[in-house]
Amino acid sequence: DKPVTVARLRRMKEAGERIAALTAYDASFCALLEEGGVEVILVGDSLGMVVQGHDTTVPVTVEQMVYHTACVARARRRALLVADLPFLSYTTPEQALASSARLMQEGGAQMVKLEGGATQLATVEALAARGVPVCAHLGLQPQSVHKLGGFRVQGRDAEAARRMLADARALEAAGADLLILECVPRALAADIAAALAIPVIGIGAGPRCDGQILVSYDMLGIYRGRRPRFSRNFAEGSADLLAAVRAYVAAVKDGSFPGPEHGFD
Ligand code: KIV
Ligand code: NA
Repeated sequence: DKPVTVARLRRMKEAGERIAALTAYDASFCALLEEGGVEVILVGDSLGMVVQGHDTTVPVTVEQMVYHTACVARARRRALLVADLPFLSYTTPEQALASSARLMQEGGAQMVKLEGGATQLATVEALAARGVPVCAHLGLQPQSVHKLGGFRVQGRDAEAARRMLADARALEAAGADLLILECVPRALAADIAAALAIPVIGIGAGPRCDGQILVSYDMLGIYRGRRPRFSRNFAEGSADLLAAVRAYVAAVKDGSFPGPEHGFD
């Protein structure tokens, strides 16, 4: 099978073929997810929570992201490898370029992801102009949890919804190649996916995005405490981990995941 590229993901969107994405933090999970058929693997800074045991993603450093990205990259053959730029590692275009250089050159990432809208446009432009593929991330931005005062659905009032759609268009115009929407009302997520040419990947954003992503630990039923509302435990009813990943990919492709119970109004 041919390696997944940004162009291929765009063609999938045009063809109405949904993109299946999951997170990985090490080589064994990367191999499992590839075998299961995911197109995009994200080394998310969610590793701060599921691997390191922190309550937020805020403590994660560039050094740690480089380490985990390199672990994943050694096993990667086909999926597109995206790595998160961690909290405060992209406060200026210059800093974002330096942090991205580490994720791509030392870590082996093929795309970097950053949180934020209007404030990130100059940074996205600088990265895109120098050949760094960018995944933007709107809606719930976990790196801002201390400012937000908690993890909750974003874009519920008309003004916030209008601003999110405008930010999404501006990020695309600035050169972003992908957009993740996290915890966004399903109607707003559908509007944003329809308005953009770049693929929009949802998590807690309803069924009408161009693809879906989950934290792999969540979809395998590995959680300390509560299951996030927007996730489903695909290990339930699956013979083994590979079957669980295959079930997730199949459910994303045929539109049976996410269901009504995994979204927000
Ligand atoms: O860090 C992460 O795993 C993420 C996904 C949940 C989108 O940003
Ligand atoms: Na993240």
